[in-house]
Amino acid sequence: MNQFSQRIFVAGHTGLVGSAILRALRRQGYTNLLTCSRAQLDLTDQAQVRSLFKRESIDVVYLAAATVGGIHANNSYPAEFIYSNMAIEANVIHEAWRHGTQKLLFLGSSCIYPRLAPQPIPEAALLHGALEPTNEPYAIAKIAGIKICESYNRQYGTRFRSVMPTNLYGPGDNYHAENSHVIPALIRRLHEAKHSGAGEVLIWGTGEARREFLYVDDLADACLHVMSVSEDCYRSVTKPMVSHLNIGSGEEITIAMLAQLVAQVVGYSGRLVFDLTRPDGTPRKLLDSASLGKLGWRASVTLARGLQETYHSFLRAEQAGSRQQPARALDPVSRRLRGQFQPAPSLAHAYADMRVPY
Ligand SMILES: NC(=O)c1ccc[n+]([C@@H]2O[C@H](COP(=O)([O-])OP(=O)(O)OC[C@H]3O[C@@H](n4cnc5c(N)ncnc54)[C@H](OP(=O)(O)O)[C@@H]3O)[C@@H](O)[C@H]2O)c1
Repeated sequence: MNQFSQRIFVAGHTGLVGSAILRALRRQGYTNLLTCSRAQLDLTDQAQVRSLFKRESIDVVYLAAATVGGIHANNSYPAEFIYSNMAIEANVIHEAWRHGTQKLLFLGSSCIYPRLAPQPIPEAALLHGALEPTNEPYAIAKIAGIKICESYNRQYGTRFRSVMPTNLYGPGDNYHAENSHVIPALIRRLHEAKHSGAGEVLIWGTGEARREFLYVDDLADACLHVMSVSEDCYRSVTKPMVSHLNIGSGEEITIAMLAQLVAQVVGYSGRLVFDLTRPDGTPRKLLDSASLGKLGWRASVTLARGLQETYHSFLRAEQAGSRQQPARALDPVSRRLRGQFQPAPSLAHAYADMRVPY
């Protein structure tokens, strides 16, 4: 079969990552793409997932559907984070195997590595240390997803691959005041400060923590690259029980420099004031992406360009009046979960050493 006519299911196509994977597939000429809205298909429902795989003859799956959120959401909905992510992974991966799907890509995340992992973080660091307590239920579920893929590969010879992206940003991100990651949070706050004429904006922490960021279209490109390499190539840089690949840009930046860069892009000329009463989180978080480099992939979008593209898409959505991104930002987690789960009572006392969510 011509690879461009393969039936490809992108699960989570409305999300930051899934929408970028869909764009990348279309750009590369894939036409036989399958997407389902959550109203059509709840991936936590085993019967619905089974019926989809029975009905459709799916060759390849990109599993970018997940319950994702910042520290506040992780603390408020730990049951939902562990249950829904485990259910989605178990349902999709198992049904993919049952129905003979040839290939599947599972998305992990750099935040599921141990809290005190060596820097830059090698793939082998997974499960070699205690997890960050604030997102432990989420991390356990995502680690389970990687291990489900590995186990089916080992027992049934499937070709299910996993990737571990660094912090992502780009069009379609979540701009919620409490639940967003650092880049969308900065874009929104500095944009609002520019329009309200605020003379200064508070930034959490000292600004000295260093982080790595990857533009989401680069991530999507990397995902397609990982899926395109032969099994021999993939095996040459992974192991049966360390089967995931890190995806990072390899570039680090301090939060202070990042805030200055976002201010430039947004056109905010007020003062950036660092709130030293807030935690910095881990001083450095960088992935070791050498294995992916051996497969011939490198990031191509610089942070400056990626931030400009992201801000333009934020403005386009705002100007179009659809407020698509801010709408996604209206607390996507609690919007999704309303009526299903009760938030946990405040766990603040249990997280005296809480880390910021980036
Ligand atoms: N964002 C990052 O910085 C980052 C970094 C590293 C790794 N990742 C990984 O990338 C993956 C995707 O993250 P994201 O940032 O793209 O998340 P996102 O923007 O919140 O998108 C999640 C997607 O999953 C769908 N979904 C969730 N639960 C579902 C269900 N029960 N049934 C059907 N669809 C469901 C959502 O649909 P609705 O639109 O209907 O809600 C949405 O399309 C995750 O595995 C995450 O760990 C993300």
